[in-house]
Amino acid sequence: MKLGVNIDHVATLRQARGGGAPDPIVAARICSLAGCHSIVCHLREDRRHINDEDVKNLRKIVKTKLNLEMSCAKEIVGVALRMKPDQATLVPERRKEITTEGGLDVIANRKTISRVVKTLSSAGIPVSLFIDPEEPQVEAAKQAGVECIELHTGRYANAATLTETEIELQNLLRSARFARGLSLKVFAGHGLNYENVKQIVEIGGIEELNIGHSIIARAVFSGLENAVKEMLALLRHCEPRRGEAIPS
Ligand code: PXP
Repeated sequence: MKLGVNIDHVATLRQARGGGAPDPIVAARICSLAGCHSIVCHLREDRRHINDEDVKNLRKIVKTKLNLEMSCAKEIVGVALRMKPDQATLVPERRKEITTEGGLDVIANRKTISRVVKTLSSAGIPVSLFIDPEEPQVEAAKQAGVECIELHTGRYANAATLTETEIELQNLLRSARFARGLSLKVFAGHGLNYENVKQIVEIGGIEELNIGHSIIARAVFSGLENAVKEMLALLRHCEPRRGEAIPS
């Protein structure tokens, strides 16, 4: 199981004082040295945390995989075409949300999403779509022309009861299986932490987890290198039990 570390929250802390510290580029270096498999950042239209200069510098130093989360806005697509991340993940974006609250509605926005997928893919940038774990959305993602999807684990992470948790795990399991059946690569993320990640690994069929907040939060107390290493160790020690294992 691969780990992508989302470093947006390092930039959020920097923006709190408007200076240069902490530097997300240094964070990316530390995460990479600690062994993570990709660096994830979200260039929001309002530039509330990561900015264009960050993406430019990340592009220079990330040698593993730079995964740029982005909306379908023309201006942001332009940045992606110039920066050439190793992967673009299309996410929904609303100005007032604190974080990405739900998955893309690929069915309702089929035309726009397919157009952006085509533009980015033609420029050699593989595209992933961040979607809720629902089979019709998985199917629409396949039709939009992507090779990978990222399943939104937020509903699982926020489940209040064991029954709700199991329902969400089943949704993720079914969607991951369905996507694999369509030859899509499956990633997952949002709201995952050191306590709830094990059950996601056990689903199987998922190649990579993208985790931000919990790792950066732990780094405040134990350092970023330790926080990344601890998460990697957890992923190494969990086994897919419900579905297929994917060699890393
Ligand atoms: N994956 C995607 C597509 C996201 O938008 C986010 C949040 O920025 C994450 C993963 C990471 O979520 P979290 O910060 O809750 O770990």
